Amino acid sequence: MTTNTTQAGKQPIIQLDGVAKMYRLNKKKPFLVHDAVQRLLGRGTSGEDFWAIRELSLSIQPGESLAVVGGNGAGKSTLLGLIAGTISPTCGRVTVSGRVGALLELGAGFHSDLTGRENVFLNASLLGLQREEAEEQFENIVTYSELRDFIDVPLRNYSSGMQVRLGFAVAIHIHPEILIMDEVMSVGDQSFQIKCSRSIRQFQEAGKTILFVSHSPGQVSQLCRRVIWLEHGRLKREGPTEEILAAYQQKSS
Ligand SMILES: Nc1ncnc2c1ncn2[C@@H]1O[C@H](COP(=O)(O)OP(=O)(O)OP(=O)(O)O)[C@@H](O)[C@H]1O
Ligand SMILES: [Mg+2]
Repeated sequence: MTTNTTQAGKQPIIQLDGVAKMYRLNKKKPFLVHDAVQRLLGRGTSGEDFWAIRELSLSIQPGESLAVVGGNGAGKSTLLGLIAGTISPTCGRVTVSGRVGALLELGAGFHSDLTGRENVFLNASLLGLQREEAEEQFENIVTYSELRDFIDVPLRNYSSGMQVRLGFAVAIHIHPEILIMDEVMSVGDQSFQIKCSRSIRQFQEAGKTILFVSHSPGQVSQLCRRVIWLEHGRLKREGPTEEILAAYQQKSS
């Protein structure tokens, strides 16, 4: 596997060109006197622009495994959401050439009033699986998640770890070319973490592309050779895992 982003002749599977994401923050509730003062000062009252991702360009080649690191609020989940297509960029362009299996924040894509079974079929269909394909995979998903006894129970009665097990099981059984995970393993118990790591390795061996966020340096160095370090929504550094992790850890300590 290579860590180079600019291999000649290869088409990136994920490409970001000058991507930025802005949120409008309402720091204060509308308040008459506050609004009046803001107006007198010539400032708008509709909130502040906050750039969660700024001017980010990035290429990821098919078959690469990449980790995203950075402090809380650095923009990691926003970046994953932009690539998974759940967040639209304010500027720039995101190009993704392949089916994405994404496991973003807890419960994303799941409905708490629907049962595990209903959520599996809903998600499979949203992720592009035909009904027959979903039916074929359903048994594998249930077995993998080890949630057979709870599959007809509404999601609101699942623990966080159970939701992640089901989400991960769906994500890997829809045959994605790209697997995107946001701090998935930190929620699962040890047996799930082992299972998760094994599945990720199988994905890597099959030449799939993996992008994940993790706060665990051990996990990052175990699973990938290239790391992206985000800080305040900017690409602070990217490169070989050990080099970037060392710099990041030095900065954090
Ligand atoms: N929907 C939103 N509306 C307003 N601001 C948001 C929204 N989502 C994220 N942000 C802001 O964007 C910044 C980046 O958030 P993001 O969730 O991407 O960070 P993160 O790197 O994943 O952090 P963590 O390690 O805590 O998960 C934060 O400052 C956050 O407050
Ligand atoms: Mg996050």
